[in-house]
Amino acid sequence: MKFRSLRPAEAIRTNALIVPVFSDAPTIPAALPRAVRATTLRVLKAMAGTRRLYGVTTHYRGTAPERLILVGAGRHAELTPERLRNVTAAGVRSLWRAAEGVRTGGAAASPPEVRRIAVVVDEGLGNERAVEATVQGAIYAMWRPETHRSRPEPLPAISTVGLVASAVPAAAIRRGEAIGEAVNFARRLANEPANLMTPTNVADEARSLAKAAGLGCEVLDEKRCRALGMHSFLSVAQGSHQPPRLVVLRYHGRAGKGHDAAARPGRSAGAYDLALVGKGITFDSGGISIKPAEGMHRLKVDMTGAASVIGTMGAVARLRPAANILGVALLTENLPGGGATKPGDVFTSMSGKTVEVINTDAEGRLVLVDGLTYAQREGATRVVDIATLTGAIHIALGDHYSGLFGKPEPFVAHVRAVSAEAGDRFWPMPLSDEYREEIRSDIADIRNSAGKFGGASKAAAFLDAVVEVGVEWAHLDIASQDWSDRDQPHSPKGPQGPGVRTLIALALEAPGPV
Ligand code: BES
Ligand code: MN
Ligand code: ZN
Repeated sequence: MKFRSLRPAEAIRTNALIVPVFSDAPTIPAALPRAVRATTLRVLKAMAGTRRLYGVTTHYRGTAPERLILVGAGRHAELTPERLRNVTAAGVRSLWRAAEGVRTGGAAASPPEVRRIAVVVDEGLGNERAVEATVQGAIYAMWRPETHRSRPEPLPAISTVGLVASAVPAAAIRRGEAIGEAVNFARRLANEPANLMTPTNVADEARSLAKAAGLGCEVLDEKRCRALGMHSFLSVAQGSHQPPRLVVLRYHGRAGKGHDAAARPGRSAGAYDLALVGKGITFDSGGISIKPAEGMHRLKVDMTGAASVIGTMGAVARLRPAANILGVALLTENLPGGGATKPGDVFTSMSGKTVEVINTDAEGRLVLVDGLTYAQREGATRVVDIATLTGAIHIALGDHYSGLFGKPEPFVAHVRAVSAEAGDRFWPMPLSDEYREEIRSDIADIRNSAGKFGGASKAAAFLDAVVEVGVEWAHLDIASQDWSDRDQPHSPKGPQGPGVRTLIALALEAPGPV
């Protein structure tokens, strides 16, 4: 799928034209061919009052563009990049049905394949932001979850997307593509069943992404993790027959130190401007503290954080910020078995802190502490972790926001602002000494579970225990938004890829104090 600039008059050379319609301001470009404009206005009039946000009305014309796709965009005064993305995605996704028609319909009845489409870009938010958001939206619409049907569902055969805008900067297209594909990468990996997306398979995905993108990549096996002292991470893996993997991706783009992507900047403080650490539980059964059967199949998504970090590193390699960035993904299954961790077991984490495992289902924090320590030992002074960490965050925030924790406060505020601009939904959650107090263990330094109330904050307090003085740290708990049970305008039900846009935005910032 290629994006290019399209003059309004050229809209008649496309198969489908997507036009956002606002409830308070008509945005039909005056330069559209007169016939197209006239049809648009007529359809708009006929659907008066029914311009639901992201609602799609398709008008079939006898002549090109054969389809005129009007998408409700809400009030123009309330326009956000998120809305622009969703409008485009809803419009492109409406073509899915047309593609199914091509497959199932008789030859005469089939509509012609949609190869060339155009999108009218509203520039109320500025040209670059609008183009980037539109490109993202079109790419999100090209993700489908039914990857294992014996007769795969076809996507529309779109080859080019023309953007009707005053200018179509190449940089905005590049960013939109890199972000859109990183999100789809995270969705694809999260969607795969646990038997096909084992720790080894995820590591292989990371390796091939790194190779294609020119990133440094190391995959550490159990033996090397043990030599590093990652006994907290390995405690989660010991109940499974699948060997654990620790994936390390390195991007070295800071000016002055050369641009060899595989170069190792060393372990001095400040060697990395940013480290991203992802929870990669390829299946979370709960372990000996086993989960109830209902909904357990869903826990294949428990590696979304890891997939998000790997996808982000791919985007970083394409967009080449002048910064050094480290990606760490901790991959293992969490299963019961004869060798599995038992409630009450104690392990020494890589940080040296000892952890008591009260509940083997609180495994995410056990793997993350060793990932956080690894990143800090590599010289990262700013660390962001992303994890489907707690059911408690889902209870606190519903499906509409994810949790944001961290320290110091100005950095957390900064991450929140960056995430909002990037189009994610993170809400700041408390992390204070009372929570730190509650996770103290009777026989070790910290315990991984301490009662059901405030569970997301207690999980954050556990991670906080290994964050070193002077390090800026943010923790993104995405267990509320990694999966949707309903179709969304930008995505069918299934994995959503929250947080990827935020990680990329943080990576693209120039290094330096907040
Ligand atoms: N991965 C889960 C959280 C989760 C549940 C994510 C459902 C997505 C969907 C996590 O490892 C977990 O099991 N957390 C426990 C912690 C508890 C045992 C302290 C939880 O939230 O119940
Ligand atoms: Mn768990
Ligand atoms: Zn988990």
